Amino acid sequence: MEKVLARRYRPQTFDEVIGQEAVVRTLENALAAGRVGHGFIFSGHRGIGKTTVARILAKAMNCRRAPGPTPTPCGECESCREIREGNSVDVIEIDAASNRGIDEIRALRESVRYRPARDRYKFYILDEAHQLTDDAFNALLKTLEEPPEWAIFVLATTEPEALPATIRSRCQHFAFRAVSYARIVERLRQICQAEGIAAEDEALGLIAAAGEGSLRDALSLLDQALAYGAGALRAEMVRALLGRVSSQALGEMMAAVADGNSREVLERADAFLAAGASPAQICQQTVGMIRNMLMCRVAGAESELLALSDTERKATAAAAERFGEEDLTRFLQILLRTAADLRFAQEPRLHLELGLVKLVQARRLASIEDVLASLGAEQKKTPHDATGSGAAAAAGGGGSRAGGGAGRETPPSARFAPEADAPGEENAAAPERAAATEPPAPAGDPARAKVLARLEELKRTSLLSVLQPAVWTWAERRLELRFAGEAAALAPLAKQDSILRELREVCRVTLGFAPEIEVRVVEVPGPAAPAPATDGTPAAERAARHPALRALREHVPGHVLRTIELSE
Ligand SMILES: Nc1ncnc2c1ncn2[C@@H]1O[C@H](COP(=O)(O)OP(=O)(O)O)[C@@H](O)[C@H]1O
Ligand SMILES: [Mg+2]
Ligand SMILES: [Zn+2]
Repeated sequence: MEKVLARRYRPQTFDEVIGQEAVVRTLENALAAGRVGHGFIFSGHRGIGKTTVARILAKAMNCRRAPGPTPTPCGECESCREIREGNSVDVIEIDAASNRGIDEIRALRESVRYRPARDRYKFYILDEAHQLTDDAFNALLKTLEEPPEWAIFVLATTEPEALPATIRSRCQHFAFRAVSYARIVERLRQICQAEGIAAEDEALGLIAAAGEGSLRDALSLLDQALAYGAGALRAEMVRALLGRVSSQALGEMMAAVADGNSREVLERADAFLAAGASPAQICQQTVGMIRNMLMCRVAGAESELLALSDTERKATAAAAERFGEEDLTRFLQILLRTAADLRFAQEPRLHLELGLVKLVQARRLASIEDVLASLGAEQKKTPHDATGSGAAAAAGGGGSRAGGGAGRETPPSARFAPEADAPGEENAAAPERAAATEPPAPAGDPARAKVLARLEELKRTSLLSVLQPAVWTWAERRLELRFAGEAAALAPLAKQDSILRELREVCRVTLGFAPEIEVRVVEVPGPAAPAPATDGTPAAERAARHPALRALREHVPGHVLRTIELSE
């Protein structure tokens, strides 16, 4: 009774095995025809039935109620019962991972020579067979080359390619397939029913998804969830157990991305963290969500490729409506990099936040691309049409450049830097060139350079990526950090206490004082920075004449903030 679900619900007949129809049919036919080989490879992902089928095969070969091998063992005779309980002397299960040496295989070869104690066949089930040593493989090969008539070997492995070709050529290979999400859910539902447990569909879906294709893993999660929930299975509970965020909540965060609202995106992330999800989990789940949104767009919300419950499916489809395939692909790229960063990050939270803010930026960038793409097609001019988010155009890089930092990534949105979404069209009359309200970042700011160099030394990459794009202005013991253009989205990050505290501390160490720090978002972008002259014509001038830029200006209010030579 106290046995775990995975063991209590191990299929006992071929009919009960889920999702391995091809394997099962072939074995049944071979059994019916009385032509069963001596060597098998069962390959496939963990927890999808390899050991289970090997044991059923052992029963099928040995069932005492049948005069010989049968596709339908009785399950009740002594042999069937002992094999089911795992204590038949003639069915030997060996974990190759811990018995991988030549001595163990020698002992095995020795044992193979003796006839079965009671049954017709002696069965050797070698789990994780790819882990055997070369010597052990050689010894095994000799046995496989001339097996006694009573010996049958099943090599179960997750990595069939890792088995020597000589071994493979002596065995019949059965590739077990991943069990589909839908069938795992179905199986979980069946088991809950049998156990008299009321289970929410969504809860079953979450467990199946978390099992990642392994029925065994799904069943152990179900065990845990039941222990936790005292007889009932609710989605809320399973989410808490798995440290997961609901698709609905993730969908709302993505809606904030669509709105270009970085602040709300960060507030959502904060709520997820507060509820106990780790930055890596949130990132991974957002990746999953975006992947599913992409599936929705490409294959339709009803697609079977979406391993989702109905509730999740609805949330995902709704979220997907706000984005194009290109947006989503770009988001995936950004967050996959974030996920990689998170594995080593000292400040996982900050990395997550950066990744999420980049989504907002990439989204704004995308709307500019839409405009550019539409330019060619459009004949009639629609001046100052508030296309998409109506972002102002500002060509330019991420503010000032700091020394060092080789190999640091540039945000994908660095080519265009849309600023302050102009909700009304009143702004449309923005002057070609604004008055010089904001001077460009001072090129030689030794204090800034010192602080940044120290942060480099400390490998505070995420902190650097927040601080570098800011314009730093010192006034006595005060430091003002101004965020303009694309960098505006970083301001909420820079305002966090933890960051300000650390920056002050680094200033104290490097400069001898801890400044008061003020973070400001600059709403009005400054003029174009003096462009480097190349072929005589300043880049800014050449850019201004570029037809794409000229056309763009007809569509979106704004002006050029900065021009960069691509060779730079
Ligand atoms: N195809 C399947 N059909 C039904 N249950 C399965 C299946 N695969 C795995 N299970 C469940 O998972 C448990 C472990 O399966 P097992 O056969 O040991 O996996 P593997 O050997 O492939 O790692 C089984 O006891 C059973 O409860
Ligand atoms: Mg197994
Ligand atoms: Zn039997």
